[in-house]
Amino acid sequence: MSRLVVISNRVAVPKARGAAGAQGGLAGALNAALKKHGGIWFGWSGQECDKFSGNINMQRHEGVTTATVDLPHQDVEEYYNGYANSTLWPLFHFRLDLTEYERETGKGYERVNERFADSVGPLIEPDDLVWVHDYHLIPLGGRLRSRGIRNRIGFFLHTPWPPTRLFVSLPFHERLVQTMLEYDLIGFQTEEWLESFVHYCEKELGAEVDEATGTITYEGRKTVARAYPIGIDYDHVRAQADTGEARQAAQRLLSSTRRRTAMIGVDRLDYSKGLPERIDGIGRFFDNYPERVRDLVFIQIAPPSRENVESYQDIRATLEQKIGQINGARTEVDIVPIRYVNRGHTLAELCGFYRAAKIGLVTPLRDGMNLVAKEYVAAQDPEDPGVLILSRFAGSALQLRDAVLVNPHSPDDLAHAIHTALDMPLEERRRRWERMIETVVNDNVQRWTENFTSDLAGHEAKR
Ligand code: F6P
Repeated sequence: MSRLVVISNRVAVPKARGAAGAQGGLAGALNAALKKHGGIWFGWSGQECDKFSGNINMQRHEGVTTATVDLPHQDVEEYYNGYANSTLWPLFHFRLDLTEYERETGKGYERVNERFADSVGPLIEPDDLVWVHDYHLIPLGGRLRSRGIRNRIGFFLHTPWPPTRLFVSLPFHERLVQTMLEYDLIGFQTEEWLESFVHYCEKELGAEVDEATGTITYEGRKTVARAYPIGIDYDHVRAQADTGEARQAAQRLLSSTRRRTAMIGVDRLDYSKGLPERIDGIGRFFDNYPERVRDLVFIQIAPPSRENVESYQDIRATLEQKIGQINGARTEVDIVPIRYVNRGHTLAELCGFYRAAKIGLVTPLRDGMNLVAKEYVAAQDPEDPGVLILSRFAGSALQLRDAVLVNPHSPDDLAHAIHTALDMPLEERRRRWERMIETVVNDNVQRWTENFTSDLAGHEAKR
């Protein structure tokens, strides 16, 4: 088996690992892949420095070797806060209204991709499989090729890929996709994002596409593009759900909610997660069913994310105002309808909360996959499982068809779904959960890694 060299913007070592909701799904997934194949995980340390030195900090934690570099403040501003999170992230989540186009941040993005290629290039051995992740590093494969790396190089996009008519608003969009086509294999979370990408390649670049094999031929080079829906590390989540820490967390939540049904949301504080829209839906539920106000308590866990980006500061202010308004109007001496927790929790604690909460609310406006939905299902008590309310715009909705699917833009739809979930009989809850747990158990992160890496290994190396 070839060694893996995983490259992503951030590197998360196991001991610092939280849940998908706290850290993004990528961290857990990559740890599992590296444990199996051996190899290196390379990325930014998350630390800033005065001047880029290229010094690599190598560490080993629980069988995973990490290699990280620090980045100067200007790089972090232009590459991470700028092009990655103020241009590509909103664009890829269909938010043209939030997408900023600045030439300088584009240059910073290119510069950091060059720096990454310079730093990681010498760590790559001839038979390694190189696996690059996410929108921060789209040009990296091409930069490695220009340094003579002939290994098989794959790329996985964890976010959606937008429709062509939105994507063409990006200045130099052709350049970005041309460099993406230097990978041997490109993975997307769902068929929908894959189709949008292929459409762009055909219509805007004039590439040739063989739909049967997913092969895209452009300027004589061949790239395969396929959908590989990511899963969770089911055994790990299950083991966490069975710890004393999880049981304590569940007990804490249950004893504080007494006879009311707890409903939970766990998300990075990001506008793509549909948090203000969710609060509007809960507000509508209280308006439409005033007699049920005492039956429900909603717990929103939302650790802050990308706090130096203005749109994230704005979404936080909007969310907090909306929660404040509802709590202001509905709180009684013994009831606070919405509890808002602004910090992260361990996976074990989250599993305890998931199990104690009889409704899981996962309502992004757009999401590549969303692993919180899968973690919620995994943590349930099979005898008395909770109900998952899931946005039809999350990639995971294509697999978790037995969730209560909602349009997160519609407060009435959300209110109705909450009402349905609150009253759902045990038999129906079990029936839905049994179908969902099957895909969560089978389409797990190990299978995802295996599918992607074996397809990548099957490619002819570019020697
Ligand atoms: O899934 C998208 C993603 O950007 C991941 O790459 C990352 O792990 C997660 O969200 C958290 O984002 P950040 O590293 O910006 O805090």
